[in-house]
Amino acid sequence: MACYHMPMTNQAPTIAPAAPSQTGLRGAVVGDTRLSSINGEQGELIYRGIDIRELAVASTFEEVAYLLWFGALPTADRLADFRAQLNRRRALSESLLSLLRCLPAKGTPMDVLRTAVSALGVVDSHVTDMSRDAQMEKAMTLTASVPSILAAYHRISQGLEPLPPDPQLNTAANFLHMFTGDTPDANAVRVLDAALILHADHGMNASTFAAIVTAATLSDMYSAITSAIGTLKGSLHGGANEGVILNLLDIGSVENVDRWVERKLATHEKIMGFGHAVYKAYDPRAAELKRIAKEVGAAAGTTKWIEMTERMEQSVWQRKQLYPNVDLYSASVYHTLGIPTQYFTPVFAISRVAGWCAHCMEQYADNKLIRPRANYVGPRGVAYVPIDQRSEDINL
Ligand SMILES: CC(C)(COP(=O)(O)OP(=O)(O)OC[C@H]1O[C@@H](n2cnc3c(N)ncnc32)[C@H](O)[C@@H]1OP(=O)(O)O)[C@@H](O)C(=O)NCCC(=O)NCCS
Repeated sequence: MACYHMPMTNQAPTIAPAAPSQTGLRGAVVGDTRLSSINGEQGELIYRGIDIRELAVASTFEEVAYLLWFGALPTADRLADFRAQLNRRRALSESLLSLLRCLPAKGTPMDVLRTAVSALGVVDSHVTDMSRDAQMEKAMTLTASVPSILAAYHRISQGLEPLPPDPQLNTAANFLHMFTGDTPDANAVRVLDAALILHADHGMNASTFAAIVTAATLSDMYSAITSAIGTLKGSLHGGANEGVILNLLDIGSVENVDRWVERKLATHEKIMGFGHAVYKAYDPRAAELKRIAKEVGAAAGTTKWIEMTERMEQSVWQRKQLYPNVDLYSASVYHTLGIPTQYFTPVFAISRVAGWCAHCMEQYADNKLIRPRANYVGPRGVAYVPIDQRSEDINL
């Protein structure tokens, strides 16, 4: 961090006493939520009280979004209506497509998504309407648009025309269809749908916190989700899944895994896909994705990635006793599905936008500005030195 050298002064500056700080806000509770809860000691995650392992097997992403937003699983009629409402909002406006066409073809998809979601707020004439109905409208527009934005940009960057959404398809199928141009394979749709379920919400994670900090200023939901996308992108958060596959590609084979892990740990480098700020047990999402990765690999006849990942898990455990997190096994699932690496974190966003919107609505319903304090550890009592009396000895 830039730090100015103490200017010349007769007064000895005093150093502020350092009160204990909670670095990284570990363990700090920012408020109440009814949306999801992690039991870090037991390795459990629930959405509205329901175990995610049950949801991953039996549910759909749309059902989970409904559960998060409305508080209970939908009836068949309500689910059909909810799906239809999402599908009506999937098509992108001409102005948004023009924006995507203007962006460099080599843009990073997460940056493109952040920019396009911000633009959605500009074209919504009800952006400042904070009523519950308007919030729900925005949540639907955002959740329906994210996969369409990513698929459209992918095609534009390939020199292809974006494809319209298919009103018969769900979120997972529509994304695969608009992204690849092919009729999606039913197994691939089910696999992606399960991954979307598992990523939809996760307590007060960094990107959700970014979203509610923005929402708590009574800024609009597009701004809140723009903040969240910028936060998810980081390699210590959602960006880790891209890091995992880049590592696997770098390692190349199962035989090289141990040596690679040893070298990384010896040089104190973080290994993507391991460790967690809350879980002190096996991340239940990682367990589900490991099962899915094995099924996907077996079906595709490419078990290399899952074998390497399992070896990495064993190797890291033997040397450092770190559990895998959600990003370890999602990487080989997405890679085997043929999703390009740069779209791994965006796929995370396709799902997490449902959780972000749910948290924003919860925040708006019982709002209080989020305004923590920092522990000042700098000098005090420093005299102001006029510009013509300052020395060159400034340490920037
Ligand atoms: C997620 C993460 C930021 C959590 O951090 P945290 O709870 O603050 O854990 P700490 O950074 O305090 O780590 C505790 C110890 O484990 C080590 N550690 C944690 N995660 C590690 C990793 N992925 N690789 C290597 N060592 C790791 C730390 O270096 C530290 O070791 P030390 O006690 O010898 O110094 C961290 O585990 C990480 O950077 N993981 C890799 C990125 C990733 O996969 N992110 C996705 C999270 S879902």
